[in-house]
Amino acid sequence: MKKHIIAAAALMLAASAVAKPMTDAEKAKMDKFVTELMAKMTLDEKLGQLNLPPSDDIVTGQTINSNIGQAVAKGQVGGTFNIKGAEKIRELQRVAVEESRLGIPLLLGMDVIHGYETVFPIPLALSCSWDMEAIERSARIAAVEASAAGVNWTFSPMVDISRDPRWGRMSEGSGEDPYLGSEIARAMVRGYQGDLKNNDEILACVKHFALYGASEAGRDYNTVDMSRSRMYNEYFAPYKAAVDEGAATVMTSFNLVDGVPATENKWLLDDVLRGQWGFDGMVVTDYGSIGEVSVHGLENLPEASARALDAGTDMDMCSFGFIGTLKQSVENGTVPMENIDKAVRRILEAKYRLGLFENPYKFNDTKREKTHIYTKEHRADARRIAAETFVLLKNDGKVLPLAKKGKVALIGPMANTASNMPGTWSVAADFDRYKSLYEGIKDAVGNKAEVVYAKGSNLESDPVLEANATMFGREMRDPRSEEELLAEALATVADADVIVAAMGESSEYSGESSSRTELELPATQRRLMEALLATGKPVVMLNFSGRPTVMSWEAENVPAILNVWFGGSEAADAIADVVFGDVNPSGRLSATMPRSLGQVPIYYNHLNTGRPLAADAKGFVKFRSNYLDVPNTPLYPFGYGLGYTTFDYSPVRLSADTLTGDGSLTATVTVKNTGSREGTETVQMYIRDLVGSVSRPVKELKGFERITLAPGESRDVTFTVTPEMLKFYNFNLDFVNEPGDFDLMVGPNSAEVSTARFTLK
Ligand code: BGC
Repeated sequence: MKKHIIAAAALMLAASAVAKPMTDAEKAKMDKFVTELMAKMTLDEKLGQLNLPPSDDIVTGQTINSNIGQAVAKGQVGGTFNIKGAEKIRELQRVAVEESRLGIPLLLGMDVIHGYETVFPIPLALSCSWDMEAIERSARIAAVEASAAGVNWTFSPMVDISRDPRWGRMSEGSGEDPYLGSEIARAMVRGYQGDLKNNDEILACVKHFALYGASEAGRDYNTVDMSRSRMYNEYFAPYKAAVDEGAATVMTSFNLVDGVPATENKWLLDDVLRGQWGFDGMVVTDYGSIGEVSVHGLENLPEASARALDAGTDMDMCSFGFIGTLKQSVENGTVPMENIDKAVRRILEAKYRLGLFENPYKFNDTKREKTHIYTKEHRADARRIAAETFVLLKNDGKVLPLAKKGKVALIGPMANTASNMPGTWSVAADFDRYKSLYEGIKDAVGNKAEVVYAKGSNLESDPVLEANATMFGREMRDPRSEEELLAEALATVADADVIVAAMGESSEYSGESSSRTELELPATQRRLMEALLATGKPVVMLNFSGRPTVMSWEAENVPAILNVWFGGSEAADAIADVVFGDVNPSGRLSATMPRSLGQVPIYYNHLNTGRPLAADAKGFVKFRSNYLDVPNTPLYPFGYGLGYTTFDYSPVRLSADTLTGDGSLTATVTVKNTGSREGTETVQMYIRDLVGSVSRPVKELKGFERITLAPGESRDVTFTVTPEMLKFYNFNLDFVNEPGDFDLMVGPNSAEVSTARFTLK
């Protein structure tokens, strides 16, 4: 329920900026202010600041006479979240400011994960753009819109690396790679926060700290167990990047980290986050995670609350452990007042940094809600950016792009559902304003072509499973039988020139609590696809998905496949732009697509093992690390994607074959557009450390550049390599580089590279 919220001019966007650290004088001013305020606070009022209750009763009651309104007036609430509507938020802020004794303003959060009402593609899709400007822009627009509706804190970016597509929350992150994930984490923090000065710059919250994406068997909320080497070298990187970029808040994860729940893990929060990374912002728990400590099999609520506070957690989201138990724990001497004060200070500092003490209504200019949300300009950006996220997996016989002529048959369970376009966590979406793909395609062709539509099948044959896909009002099950649906589809395509099949998952098949064990096209859709292919007409498959799905059969049988993920509020137009060739697709996978789910976890930057399979091995080899039944290679590798033109790469050229001390060397390739239309290519640079004191991955992304080339045009792309880039965490977790040989690889994806060797002296 908590995700259910009721609905309640052109704009110059500020240029991006990294939040500047405060000067000493500014810090001293803030310290003085907070110290003076804290001196006036009772213990109850302090505990109130640590309390982040859900807003459900405001949402449903629409009135501040609800429990939360009274609690705010009593100073028992530090903030709340997921309220939609500037008026409602303003009123609640008014209660905090005018009716509570000290008038401390509230933090007002929301899961603005990939846009507000202008919805951008799901984060996994955004990461496939490899376009940091676009991603930053998406976060900027999200902040502009959310702040116009009174929100001053977003629970984003979600930067959990994941290598297991069974996990539904893979949709919310940036895929499998620490480097790409880190760049994206930084871009999003910049986009949301800017320099935290203006009323359209809001607090970011990096989540879920830490390792949430590694839950065993891809089952949400499941146990995580990981070596520290893997934490430091792989999974920690994007959280740290976001912190380095100035992210003001961090959210703990539900899972265990080294046997202790993240929310009360002192090593994680105090030693790593605050100590080693220098994070001086505020830490909030995930929803109810202090309360879940005892369910993990550890201590009860008072002890869990005391431990979480001591570990460095400041704000309790929805467990009511801090407000409910810490007073007694202070009184009986088990919790030092100093721990409470530390947390209160950090929360007040976050409010101070937002400027709420200067102007508590800074984010409550209700006029902006009317002028700054779902604007023409924002929608144009969302459409452009969505088109960049689609990944063309296959295009035999150049079926795509389609000509705007003849008769186009649009078939499939995802073809006519506007509510399924935005994707999971479109918390503030207004589905009534968005188009279905059918509408988008019709608008794109105008009167140049005829478009016919039939659903063809339900998403699933199992109504229970489909019911989960229809949550949050996303999708309607067609009551007709599968036979009737199929017959209608075949009649519809009978005299069509081309078939566009809109298939895949519903948007609620991914996201929180949406893990799956079968990622192939469900039987209903497979049967439909077989029947469509049997007509002998050209078929284009649009695969809607919130994760990498398993598409071996499609790769074998369907001539053209465009992976469109969930593309946001403007997805329908953006898909049409690419299908009809107004936009040349340029997305590249940020997560490996497996041949078979049995290969999972499968990721490009794996370690070598003592018995790797030789690259030129043909089939299964006994006593090597491989499977009897499936090759080790993925169906589509990390970094992969096609377009409507082709590119040639020269071999990589190094400026030197040794690298020393503070020096650098460059690696250059010449890339040529060998096709007949302009296209954008993402040139990727990987390294391999051939001999290390700990085992090093066979490949690690270390740089990439998106370039746009006219037909026939070639360009040199140069990457600079420094010793700093070759560093890793050794056995003692020191960040070092070690002299020795390195392979440097450049290519269009992680599997097709040219290699040159150099030595670090
Ligand atoms: C999710 C978080 C989210 C929070 C607040 C939790 O269930 O794990 O990602 O920010 O709810 O809605």
